Amino acid sequence: MKIAILGGTGDQGFGLALRFARNHDVIIGSRKKEKAEEASDKVKEILSSKGIDCKNIIGLDNKDAAKEGDVVIVSLPFEYTIPTLKELKEELKDKIVVSIGVPLATAIGDKPVRVVHPPQGSVAEMVQECLKDSKVVSAFHNVCSKVLEDINNPVECDILICGNDEEAKKIVAELAEEIEGVRGIDCGKLELSKYMEQITPLLIQLNIKYKLKGAAIKITGLEK
Ligand SMILES: NC(=O)c1ccc[n+]([C@@H]2O[C@H](COP(=O)([O-])OP(=O)(O)OC[C@H]3O[C@@H](n4cnc5c(N)ncnc54)[C@H](OP(=O)(O)O)[C@@H]3O)[C@@H](O)[C@H]2O)c1
Repeated sequence: MKIAILGGTGDQGFGLALRFARNHDVIIGSRKKEKAEEASDKVKEILSSKGIDCKNIIGLDNKDAAKEGDVVIVSLPFEYTIPTLKELKEELKDKIVVSIGVPLATAIGDKPVRVVHPPQGSVAEMVQECLKDSKVVSAFHNVCSKVLEDINNPVECDILICGNDEEAKKIVAELAEEIEGVRGIDCGKLELSKYMEQITPLLIQLNIKYKLKGAAIKITGLEK
């Protein structure tokens, strides 16, 4: 499968690229192709320095990345998500688009332990409203980039997933579970995304309070 990561030059997208490049072709997207190429070279360098085999990893501008990917992860700051995606509607038509965005109040100069409230209810629903012909799945909000980047260790957490297309959710859950230590948990329809997105500021607060690298969550009592 070809996984494109728009804004994959940033922390979270880069961490996901490191984790997915073992099993999938990865396309890192950026506003600038050269920056995407630098990031894709870095992914290859890190994995090869650890002796980890990887598939093809390339860097493209966001538009070409969106065109190439079978699954497209949107790894952009929430405030730039819709301005970027509204130019990519055609490229993203009929595709699985993974919304990982958290509406942190840093977008308005406030604290990372607060959120702003998108009028649609969540970032994922904003994305679905913009990309009417794409299958939007919401996931990967409650895992920190630092934990994803630490490829010497498994990512011990659950990835909560929601969306309105059952098949698309299943594919994203399977992708999540390829990351060592992860369970992908289908939580229901896209309207649940607001709760998932709003767990992240709480995790950030726990990271600050207890000086953690990346607090995450696990659902107990659920056998999978
Ligand atoms: N970091 C985490 O631990 C974490 C955890 C959970 C969820 N998330 C979510 O994941 C998403 C990405 O987070 P991040 O920390 O990786 O973000 P980031 O590093 O701040 O930004 C990601 C990328 O967005 C692009 N970007 C910046 N300004 C832009 C603009 N004006 N227009 C278009 N693109 C722009 C940049 O790529 P180019 O300059 O290459 O275009 C940048 O590398 C966010 O929605 C965040 O809420 C992050």
